[in-house]
Amino acid sequence: MTNDSSIAHIAAILREEAARLGPGARLPSSREIMRTHNVSPVTVSRAIGQLAAEGRVVSRPGSGAFVTHPQKTTGGESADLSWQTVALGDRVVDEGPVAALLAEAPDGVVPLTGGYLPPGLRPDRQLAAAAARAVRRPDAWAKPPLAGLAELRRWFADQTGGDVTAADALVVSGGQAALTHAFRALAAPGTPVLVETPTYPGALAAAKAAGLRATAVPVDASGVRPELLAEAFAVTGARVFFCQPTLHNPTGATLPPERRRQVLEVARAAGAFVIEDDYAHYLSEQPPPTLAAMDEHGTVVHVRSLTKILSPSMRVAAVIARGPAAHRLRAGQLVESFFVARPLQETALELVGSPAWRRHLTAVHAELRVRRDALAAALAARLPEEAEVHLLPAGGMHLWLRLPAGLDEDALVEAARRHGVLVSPGRMYYPSEPPGPRLRVTHAAAAHLAELDEGVRRLARAFQDLAHPDA
Ligand SMILES: Cc1ncc(COP(=O)(O)O)c(C=O)c1O
Repeated sequence: MTNDSSIAHIAAILREEAARLGPGARLPSSREIMRTHNVSPVTVSRAIGQLAAEGRVVSRPGSGAFVTHPQKTTGGESADLSWQTVALGDRVVDEGPVAALLAEAPDGVVPLTGGYLPPGLRPDRQLAAAAARAVRRPDAWAKPPLAGLAELRRWFADQTGGDVTAADALVVSGGQAALTHAFRALAAPGTPVLVETPTYPGALAAAKAAGLRATAVPVDASGVRPELLAEAFAVTGARVFFCQPTLHNPTGATLPPERRRQVLEVARAAGAFVIEDDYAHYLSEQPPPTLAAMDEHGTVVHVRSLTKILSPSMRVAAVIARGPAAHRLRAGQLVESFFVARPLQETALELVGSPAWRRHLTAVHAELRVRRDALAAALAARLPEEAEVHLLPAGGMHLWLRLPAGLDEDALVEAARRHGVLVSPGRMYYPSEPPGPRLRVTHAAAAHLAELDEGVRRLARAFQDLAHPDA
């Protein structure tokens, strides 16, 4: 169970432990703390978060939490910042899952995690050339139109399809910001939001930070099940459904056309919005028509970002919406952050308008296909038979693995880390109880195919550790 007193209790124990161990030492792993004190992962992560906020430890994703060297104030004493804890109260923003997704693998560790292209696949040269051209544009450093450069909005609208126009598009700072804007704009704090289960942890974190309560709607190999979506709307009274109809993260499912129609009908009957996170649009050779393109009633708020196909730092995305919802979204971004930096918008426009864009798409699609097949083959060859790949997605970066029932997912992830490979534990993708142990394994982040294969070999060793703990 997680509550403030259990977090404070574990934090106090860890404080003592940190003082005893001394600077540079590693705290016991989250798993050990959970087991020793019989507490949940959330309690442990919050307690460690408290120590990190106090400057007593520093978390190195993938390696653990390490005791820091005490900071000296000018008077030669450690500053007592505990007053801040009282002043800040208990409004905690849980950044754990997002930080884990963005974590860099330490040297020598194979990343079968992450959601962006590795340096070798990133179009860094083309981006540099586009940026150089962009900053030479006459008004590159001037204030942009508040909703985004007209030409860029038109490009995003054309890409979305249907009768979406430039006027429906708002340029925002990446997909994650788009989700935050959408949750805040479309639902009041304290109200429910429906999400696929499993789903993208960053969306769960953003919904939670917006004060929303996520309710899970199950998916199968073809994506969300419309009859259960209808039931969830009826039971909760939710007015927002967040989904990824194309190359769903983590399962890789793509919603077929008939279900797309049903989802729109069900949402419309409930008087609800559908947030369509089309994050992987450019990671697929032939993405299906978007929900936004099929929408005639302003039901869909569509999100598409350039980060996945270009670079995590190309933080340019669009939110497509109509009517009062569009106005609300625009107002939200304006109040919170004004607009996206013009040089970045100009760079995006330069890049997608150049021949390099198509060439890059073709190269990435070919490489992702090879990596997906190589990963699937390596998993089948090296892991126990009961570790089953859910499906072979038509693109994207990940495979979703069902693990043998009863296998300790955390122990496996920890053993994998010890063997030098990072994988993503399934539990973080579930808004409520997971149906069993799962793993998300990413093929896009490794430097090359040989590293990908080495990552799977290491993962196989972690499985062996669990099967023969005393070997
Ligand atoms: C499903 C999904 N949506 C949105 C995002 C946010 O991406 P970005 O903010 O880089 O556009 C991610 C990143 O991992 C993702 O996996």
